[in-house]
Amino acid sequence: MKSAEIRDAYLKFFQTKGHEIVPSSSLVPGNDPTLLFTNAGMVQFKDVFLGEDKRNYTRATSSQRCVRAGGKHNDLENVGYTARHHTFFEMLGNFSFGDYFKRDAIHYAWEFLTSSEWLGISADKLTVTVYQEDDEAYDIWKDQVGVPEERIIRIGDKGGRYQSDNFWAMGDTGPCGPCTEIFYDHGEDIWGGPPGTPEEDGDRFIEIWNVVFMQFNRSADGTMAPLPKPSVDTGMGLERIAAVMQNVHSNYEIDLFQALLKDAAEKTGATDMENKSLRVIADHIRSCAFLVVDGVLPSNEGRGYVLRRIIRRAIRHGHKLGQKQAFFHKLVAELAAQMGDAYPELTKQQAQVEKVLLAEEQQFEKTLDKGMAVLEDALKDLKGSVVPGEVLFTLYDTYGFPLDLTADIARERELTVDEEGYEAAMAEQRARARAAGAFKVDYSASLQLDGKTEFTGYSDLAGEATILSLYKDGDAVDSLAEGDEGLVILDRTPFYAESGGQVGDSGYLTATGGRFEVRDCTKQSDNHLHMGVVLQGSLNKGDTINTDVDANVRRATALNHSATHLLHAALREVLGDHVTQKGSLVDSERLRFDFSHFEAVKPEELKAIEARVNQQILLNSDIATDVCDMETAQAKGAMALFGEKYGDEVRVLSMGEGFSVELCGGTHASRTGDIGQIRITSEGGVAAGIRRLEAVTAEKALGLFDQSEALIGQVSAMVKGRPDTLADKVSALVSQNKQLEKELAQLKAKLASAAGSNLAGDAVEVAGAKVLASQIEGADMKSLDNTVAQLKDKLGSAVVLLASPAGEKINLIAAVSDDLQDRVSAGNLIKYFAPLVGGKGGGKPDKAKGAGTDLAALPGALETVSGWVQEQLG
Ligand code: SER
Repeated sequence: MKSAEIRDAYLKFFQTKGHEIVPSSSLVPGNDPTLLFTNAGMVQFKDVFLGEDKRNYTRATSSQRCVRAGGKHNDLENVGYTARHHTFFEMLGNFSFGDYFKRDAIHYAWEFLTSSEWLGISADKLTVTVYQEDDEAYDIWKDQVGVPEERIIRIGDKGGRYQSDNFWAMGDTGPCGPCTEIFYDHGEDIWGGPPGTPEEDGDRFIEIWNVVFMQFNRSADGTMAPLPKPSVDTGMGLERIAAVMQNVHSNYEIDLFQALLKDAAEKTGATDMENKSLRVIADHIRSCAFLVVDGVLPSNEGRGYVLRRIIRRAIRHGHKLGQKQAFFHKLVAELAAQMGDAYPELTKQQAQVEKVLLAEEQQFEKTLDKGMAVLEDALKDLKGSVVPGEVLFTLYDTYGFPLDLTADIARERELTVDEEGYEAAMAEQRARARAAGAFKVDYSASLQLDGKTEFTGYSDLAGEATILSLYKDGDAVDSLAEGDEGLVILDRTPFYAESGGQVGDSGYLTATGGRFEVRDCTKQSDNHLHMGVVLQGSLNKGDTINTDVDANVRRATALNHSATHLLHAALREVLGDHVTQKGSLVDSERLRFDFSHFEAVKPEELKAIEARVNQQILLNSDIATDVCDMETAQAKGAMALFGEKYGDEVRVLSMGEGFSVELCGGTHASRTGDIGQIRITSEGGVAAGIRRLEAVTAEKALGLFDQSEALIGQVSAMVKGRPDTLADKVSALVSQNKQLEKELAQLKAKLASAAGSNLAGDAVEVAGAKVLASQIEGADMKSLDNTVAQLKDKLGSAVVLLASPAGEKINLIAAVSDDLQDRVSAGNLIKYFAPLVGGKGGGKPDKAKGAGTDLAALPGALETVSGWVQEQLG
């Protein structure tokens, strides 16, 4: 069975069991700062498990793209060393949200695996594990499914409570619960033992399916709160089950990987198909390409740094195979050929992904060779088997070797790395390192956010509300006093909470006994957090208050947000469909829009884009909002954005008769005409293949026109012209100016040369030769050259040195007549003289030039010249 067939069969099986087929979500978890990457199928349903989000189904199935690199569930180090670990994989899953539980979940899994109608795997090849205390699951396997007792293994806690292979958690916080796992025995020829034995890490018994019974929500302090309803989350790695069905013992031998390995060999020039570096490369191109598709770009922090680490590890393995040229980006084409059907977004963004990877390859290429040489040197002198922290740090800091890259090389040579020493050497840069590893703090540690704030701000800017909770310095308090900075949570609010690029609202909360200035509003777990300061009186929990959003700021922000949608549509129209949004920021002052495009947007394209948006504004069409389900939204052609999480109900924003249709939770103008006009104020690059536009609208755009007009008026007055003849007038002035400059230069040269000739009288006799060392004003090098030649002719047997201050610098020139050159060299004279005035120079015996800087030393230095000549001639 091909991988694609297994994927289809799985979804179909669960569809026949009443499950809704839900598409894979992005690798960047929507609105979840606690998680690095989507690492399991359940991530997009996290809030549904927690009871904070509702769907119109209680059973779902999906094939989810996942990355396990960095953060909890990190498989990066194992890639290349085992037959079954990947940074990127596809997870087939079925989910029950308070619907069926242990019994059905186990029966479904067994039926799909063993029934001849589906995968038809022999039951003898399967072993299962259950959580130590989970008698219910044990009995279902034993009594209902009929798995022999010797193939049902209980796995308990190792270390702390719930630290078990059979207790699954998404991250440090969030939904979790005990699980039962199904293992496939690849046979005696492969090394390894059943789960729970010392040989369990071998490749013989491979976990193919994990069925998690979601029962708790773990908070940051370790408390386990029961979920509203026991649920089910299962996950089966597509690559692992494909290996079983294709009768191979390594994931890298399945159909999906064969083509990639072949391509990796071709692009790196490797001939040994068994070389494990090929596997690393074939694995890494999948995670890297999909991460870029989902909007992650290589950088020095957070998700971007994990991406950079994976790319660099792949490049290093290519290097090891002898490929010193950029090759990694060339693998995207084959990957798109293999996976583009299942993930069309990959095909669509192929060129963009190649560009990003190539840029990273080119950057790392510069330091990889040098870094390797430094490492080889250090290893040659190594005493013991640990690579010291300073070496790791130098490689990281100077040569861009992420720690795990060096550790990978060390591991190949059976060495380990001194991570502690590395951390110590890193102490000064710790702040930055921390930013790379950790994510925003999850407030759930201190905020008890059970409820949901009702948002009334699509239609209202003011209203009444009740204070549900107050926080000061992260702690819940009963009241906030005058001057206190804090956070207010209400039952309902018109304040928009920052999301989708639009900033949070500002304004006031007024109670009978106090007034609070809202400076920002953000969102956590469906609660709007009003952040600000008590201006007067106090606020108390339970108070009824009036909410007032700053209407001017909101209006300006809304106009910019609507303009952003028009701009997005115009960009796609003018530049092409490859343009996808990569980020945006909308506030009351301006809008910023990042998008994929390969080159700078040309001025004429910018004009066309601006004109297109302004045309839509002039048409003054209705901005329609439609709340509907995702399917209807997609039928309308709505563009969904990466990194955004969409629930059951989505808001579709349409403008200009289908000109722009986007999913968006932001606040908008009522008609496009409200925007007034748009003016693009800047265009630039933010990363390889990503451009950024900034623009202003409405009054701000008008303000720009006013400014331009005022400037034109000012300039017209200065040149005594009128706006309509300004260009001609300025152009005439510019040519006149050029002409004058030319004439001035000629005059200066004449003056200098005249001054030079007059200098001849200042020459002194030294041992039968004339010596002249003088300062002359306002001469550039060219006129100095002329003057010195004239003086030489005039003086006959002579040594001449001229110095001419010009701004910060002193031009120097020296010349010596033919008869003296064997004894006095102009070159040596300049070499002697220039340092006296803080400069340097040199030249031939007949003529030499230089420059100095120390004007104060000049007169004294000039006086020494005749003495110096005397020495040479004497
Ligand atoms: N979330 C569980 C896992 O990732 C089952 O999908 O293993």
